[in-house]
Amino acid sequence: MCGIVGYIGQNEKASPILLDAIKKLEYRGYDSVGIATINNEKIELKKDSGKINEVDKELQLKDMEGCVGVAHVRWATHGYPNKINSHPHTNNNNKIAIVHNGIIENHEELKKELISEGYVFKSETDSETLVHLIDKFINKGLNFQNAMIETVKLIKGSYAIGAISINYPNELIAIRNESPLVVGLGDNGNFIASDVPAFLKHTNKVIFPEDNELVIMNSDNVTIKDLNGNILDKKVETIDWNEEMAQKGGYDHFMLKEINEQSVVVSDTLSGKKDIENIVSKLGNINKICFVACGTSYHGALTGKYVFESFLNISTDVIYSSEFKYFSNVLDENTLTIFVSQSGETADTLSAIKIAKNRSKTLAIVNVLGSSITREVEHVIYTKAGPEIAVAATKTYLSQLISIYLLAIYLSKNRNNEFYENMISQIEKVPTYINELMLNEDKIKEIARKYKSYSAFFFLGRGFIYPTALEGALKLKEITYIHAEGYPSGELKHGPLAIIDENVIVVVLAPSENPESFSINSYKDTINNMEEVKSRGAQVIAITSYENGERINVNDIFQIDNQVDELLSPLVYLVPLQLLSYYISIYKDLDPDKPRNLAKCVTVK
Ligand code: G6P
Repeated sequence: MCGIVGYIGQNEKASPILLDAIKKLEYRGYDSVGIATINNEKIELKKDSGKINEVDKELQLKDMEGCVGVAHVRWATHGYPNKINSHPHTNNNNKIAIVHNGIIENHEELKKELISEGYVFKSETDSETLVHLIDKFINKGLNFQNAMIETVKLIKGSYAIGAISINYPNELIAIRNESPLVVGLGDNGNFIASDVPAFLKHTNKVIFPEDNELVIMNSDNVTIKDLNGNILDKKVETIDWNEEMAQKGGYDHFMLKEINEQSVVVSDTLSGKKDIENIVSKLGNINKICFVACGTSYHGALTGKYVFESFLNISTDVIYSSEFKYFSNVLDENTLTIFVSQSGETADTLSAIKIAKNRSKTLAIVNVLGSSITREVEHVIYTKAGPEIAVAATKTYLSQLISIYLLAIYLSKNRNNEFYENMISQIEKVPTYINELMLNEDKIKEIARKYKSYSAFFFLGRGFIYPTALEGALKLKEITYIHAEGYPSGELKHGPLAIIDENVIVVVLAPSENPESFSINSYKDTINNMEEVKSRGAQVIAITSYENGERINVNDIFQIDNQVDELLSPLVYLVPLQLLSYYISIYKDLDPDKPRNLAKCVTVK
C-alpha cells in the first residue's frame, strides 16, 4: 500500500538513487509514481500516474538535480490514480514536499479548517492535508521538526511520512505510526524507506523507528527523537539480506526467481530450528491454538490447523484477521494465538494482535525483520525466505509452512520423540523433492499452454492438502484473472457440481496415503470425487504422488515423488500450482509480478 523513500547525501545526485530505490518498492503499489528534490533553493517535482518505467520514460525522473529528495509509489485509497493525486504533495508556495503511506482518518475535518484559513487543495488525497499542516505550523514560527511534531499530534490514522523543505535543505525528516518505516545508514548519505530492499544496494545497516518517533537526518547523521524532543538511543541493526537477493538474477520475473529459490529457502528456514525449539521451551502450558492471518498466509495458517490437530491433538482455530474481533472472546491465558504474515505489516493482522495480546499468549511467524507485527507479539519466528518482491507470495508461503510444521513438531517432541526424529528427517528431504519436480517444469508449461484460455478452474483437495487447493486457486486468480475456486473434494457434490461441464478445468491434488498413524486415507475418496467431475465432462489435471499415478485416467497428470505422502504434501504440491499460474499468466501476456488492483503489503483495513 504505497511505498515511500527518501535520500539525503552530500554530493551524490538524489534522483537516480531514489528512482532505483522506488523501483524496489513497486510491489507496494503501481498506480502512480513521483519524486521531489531540492534543487537550487526550489522544490523540483515530477510525478504522474502509471508504472515507474512508463512515467520515467515520459518525465526522465533521474535527470532531476539536488542531493536530497523523497519519492513515492502509490496504491490509491483516496482519489483516483492521476497526476494531481500522485505524491509528492507540495504546500501552496512550493517550499515543502511530502510523501505519505497510510490513511489520515480525520483528513476531512482538518481539510475544512485549512481551507477556511486560506489553504488551497490541489488533490483529492488525504495526504495533502499533511503538507499544509506542516506549512501552517512553520508559518506560526516553529522549525521544520517541531512543525512535523505538531502535525502528527493533530492527525488520526496510520502514516509513514517523509518530508523536505527548501528552508531546511540539509534536513530530511520522517515519522511513522502503524505504517512501515525503516532508516538506512549509508556511507554516502542516509535513507528512509517503507522496506529494506529499497536501499540494500547502499547499506544493510538499519534503524527501526517506533511509532511516533521523529527521524531527522542529514547526509552523515541520523537523530531520532520522541514527540517531546528528547533524543533517543536507538539500536543499529545489520540485516543479513544483500542486494542480489532483491534482483531478478537473470529470471524474467521475480515470481519465477522466487519459485526457483524454494528448495534453498526450505534449508534456510530449517536452519532456524534451534530458535523455534527455544521459543517452544518458553511457551508454558497451552490448551488451544488460534491462527490468525490473511491471503496466502491464511492458507499457511489453515494448513497449521491440520498439522497441529493431527500432531498434537490440540484444538486449533483459524480466523481471517479481519474477522478476528468477532471471535476474540474465546481466548484465554492458555491459548496461543499465532499470527502469520509475510510482510509483518498487514493492517488487519496488526489490529487483531492488539485485541489478542492482553488475553492470550502471542507468537508471530513473519518474514520481514523488524516489521510492525514483530514488535507487538511476545515471540517471533522469522521465516528466513529473504526478500520477496513479486506481489503473489510463493517462497514465503513455503517458509511459513516449514515454520508451522517445525513449531508443531517441537511442541510434540516431549510426547513422541520417534515421531519428531522421523518428521525432521522427512522435511529435510523436501528440497530434493522440489528440485526433482522442477526438472519437469516443461510438463507444467505444456499444461499451462493447453488450458490458458479456459475461464473457470476448480482446485480440489482433501485433508492436509485442502488448504493447498485454496492457495492454488488464489494464485491463479491473482496473476491470471481467471475465476478459480479451491474446494474440499468431498464438498463439490453439495452445490458446485452444478456448474461443472466441459468448459471447466478441475485440478485434483491427490497425494498418496501416509502409512503412519496420522494417515487419514484421503486418496481413494479424492479419486472418487475426481470421477464425479470427470463424468460431468470436466477436464481434469491430476497432481499426484501415488506411485501408479500414470494409471489414473485424466487429461493430464503431473507426477510428484512417491515419497511425498499426505503428511508432507503441503510442502511440495504448492510448487506445480505456482508454476501453473505463472506460465498461464505468461501465455496470457500478463505481468505476473504486478497483478492489477493488488499490492503486496496491505496497510489499510
Ligand atoms: C496481500 C498480498 C498477499 C498476502 C496478503 C497477506 O493481499 O497481496 O500476497 O498473502 O496480503 O499479507 P501478509 O504480509 O500478512 O502475509
